[in-house]
Amino acid sequence: MSTTKKQRAQFATKFGVIATTVGSAVGLGNIWRFPYEAGTHGGGAFMLCYIAFVILLGIPVILSEFVLGRRTHANFFGCFRKLRASRGWYALSYMGIIASLMIASFYAVVAGWTIKYTQLAVTGQLTAGGDGINYSESFAQFTQGTWQPVIYTLLFILINHLVVSRGVQKGIERVSNVLMPLLFVILITLCINSLFLPKAGEGLRFLFQPDFSKLTSKVVIGALGQAFFSLSIGLGCMLTYASYFNGETRLVRTAGITAGLDTLVAILAGVIIFPAVFTFGYSPVAGPTLVFEVLPAVFAQLPGGAAWSSLFFFMLFVASLTSIISMSEINVTFFAEELHISRRKSTWLSSGIILIFGTLCALSFSGLSNIGEFSFFNFFNDFSSNVLLPLGGIGVSVFAGWVLDKNILRNQLTNNGTAKAPVRIIRTAIRYIAPAGIAVVFASSLGLI
Ligand code: TRP
Repeated sequence: MSTTKKQRAQFATKFGVIATTVGSAVGLGNIWRFPYEAGTHGGGAFMLCYIAFVILLGIPVILSEFVLGRRTHANFFGCFRKLRASRGWYALSYMGIIASLMIASFYAVVAGWTIKYTQLAVTGQLTAGGDGINYSESFAQFTQGTWQPVIYTLLFILINHLVVSRGVQKGIERVSNVLMPLLFVILITLCINSLFLPKAGEGLRFLFQPDFSKLTSKVVIGALGQAFFSLSIGLGCMLTYASYFNGETRLVRTAGITAGLDTLVAILAGVIIFPAVFTFGYSPVAGPTLVFEVLPAVFAQLPGGAAWSSLFFFMLFVASLTSIISMSEINVTFFAEELHISRRKSTWLSSGIILIFGTLCALSFSGLSNIGEFSFFNFFNDFSSNVLLPLGGIGVSVFAGWVLDKNILRNQLTNNGTAKAPVRIIRTAIRYIAPAGIAVVFASSLGLI
């Protein structure tokens, strides 16, 4: 297998670097997953853990991935080969492939929902009922159907397939570079709107006031999984993107901006959702369906709601496309290089796998694919984020902190001494805080401590 292309593409501009890493990080994880995870895990206590984990554990892991990726200009496999790591480390890469396929499968289901909602919004049906009607029922009717959820999932997988196999990611990125700042503006507008809802105070207290009696090991592992999922770390995604960075990219700054913007978008989503949850009488513990039930009610009471909702769901769709592209990149490159097949064929293989598992996930809500209590959607969602990504995070940080030459780490963080970076603190975080912190959270979730 050969990952060492003679000429490897690089990002042309600083904006391109930030936009692409943020494009991978910001997606359904922030706007769909964060609010419902916070809702089911008691609000404020979850939020506090989440933010602590992003800073203490997430940033060191992003930096580990950045350092390894830029140093080797290779993917998750090539990087271990180039650094002559022993075979055992490759287990991390295999785990990353499995995680990327699992995540893409359930991600496509939710992204399919965004297509459906864009369609409903554009045709004015989404907000036609006003804020008095119960949007949970109409959403349940849709997701519990047999054909519709599957068709929208397949549609999203097809779009991803076309983008990845034709290598038009650059085009999508250009579109997303314009749309993402716009999404941000819409989020802020919706936030302001939510702050004026009658029960805004109750919603904000739920989200920001930690109730430590709710701090269980489930909450803590949920927050860790959410931090990793949202930052796109633990499966080599950021590592692969960093392999396209040039020598001038400031790793610490890029990590900080990515984590900062990603967290900001999640918090904005929370501030939009929870005041609405309490005002319109929804349940914060609804789970994965929460945001799709509550947002129509928000748009229905907003002047010009049909237009706002059309824009919003279309942008959410684009945001999920840039995120799933970053996951596909991991397994498509792997299949092409490991099985010695063309990129076209490997994209088919990847899409085929996602198609099968995506269909099983899409049918989880009607119960058609469930085996007893087992739901593919829930299993893929929880197992990948709460188990595979944290394990990957331990592996990456141990490798960057203990196996990688100290000077390489320093040179990468400081661009060979030309940029300032708190190398000591970062190295301590990578060597000790991240692996130990993740291990402790992990062990407590297994009931070991
Ligand atoms: N972070 C993305 C989101 O929040 C999802 C994502 C993209 C991801 N690439 C990833 C998650 C790699 C884990 C690993 O929607």
